[in-house]
Amino acid sequence: MRTPLVAGNWKMNLQRTAAQDLAAGLAEQSGSFHGVEIAVFPPFVYLDVVHTALSGSSVRLGAQNVYWESPGAFTGEIAPEMLVDVGCRYVILGHSERRHILGETDADVFAKAKAALTAGLAPVICLGETLEQRESGQTQSVIETQFDGSIAELSADQFHQVTVAYEPVWAIGTGKNASPDQAEEVHADLRKLIANRYNAELAESTRILYGGSVKPGNAGDLLGQANVDGALVGGASLKLADFVAIIQAADSD
Ligand code: 13P
Repeated sequence: MRTPLVAGNWKMNLQRTAAQDLAAGLAEQSGSFHGVEIAVFPPFVYLDVVHTALSGSSVRLGAQNVYWESPGAFTGEIAPEMLVDVGCRYVILGHSERRHILGETDADVFAKAKAALTAGLAPVICLGETLEQRESGQTQSVIETQFDGSIAELSADQFHQVTVAYEPVWAIGTGKNASPDQAEEVHADLRKLIANRYNAELAESTRILYGGSVKPGNAGDLLGQANVDGALVGGASLKLADFVAIIQAADSD
């Protein structure tokens, strides 16, 4: 049985007070949910204050990126050890905004995943096709290529700590979510890829999140799919009531 994970990717949003208030509100409400794990991913500079605001609650903390080197002369980068030091459990890797706006490659994502795992972080690795790729029938092959390049070289032991997130690029921030059937199809394919590369047991236990315009109004249908094990939420995670409604939709208790 996979415990669903609802993860709020705040992206480059909110400033100190708003970040603190949102985290404190979430910490307060999180006690009502027992069948779902909750995590938030604030910008680096607010990890510390959000960690403090979450203390005493079960809400987990994650970062939106990391560098693959240990501390040293890498101006502007953040080492995995530093994320652990400020209380992170998770790190998002390979988000499409990093792949498409910042030129991150599958090899970069893989290097970051390895370094994150070595430091004790659990990566949430994102995959997803563009609209053009979907419309030309390439969804499956794009997902497979990204899986091979950014995940498949991890050992089974390492992969054990990984959460996969399917985020179709055309659904991110557009208000146009994948239909539950479209999400389920890709999630089921991903589970097969995991079974083929690793084993059936790992495929069964791995959480595969859906991300892309998840809102209170569509969360129930998306999360009701057999292979959708939670949500990676952008815009709606910035509004406490909306995020809580999505958590409620995911709560299996
Ligand atoms: P939106 O929920 O704003 O579409 O963003 C999704 C996303 O990119 C989460 O990582």
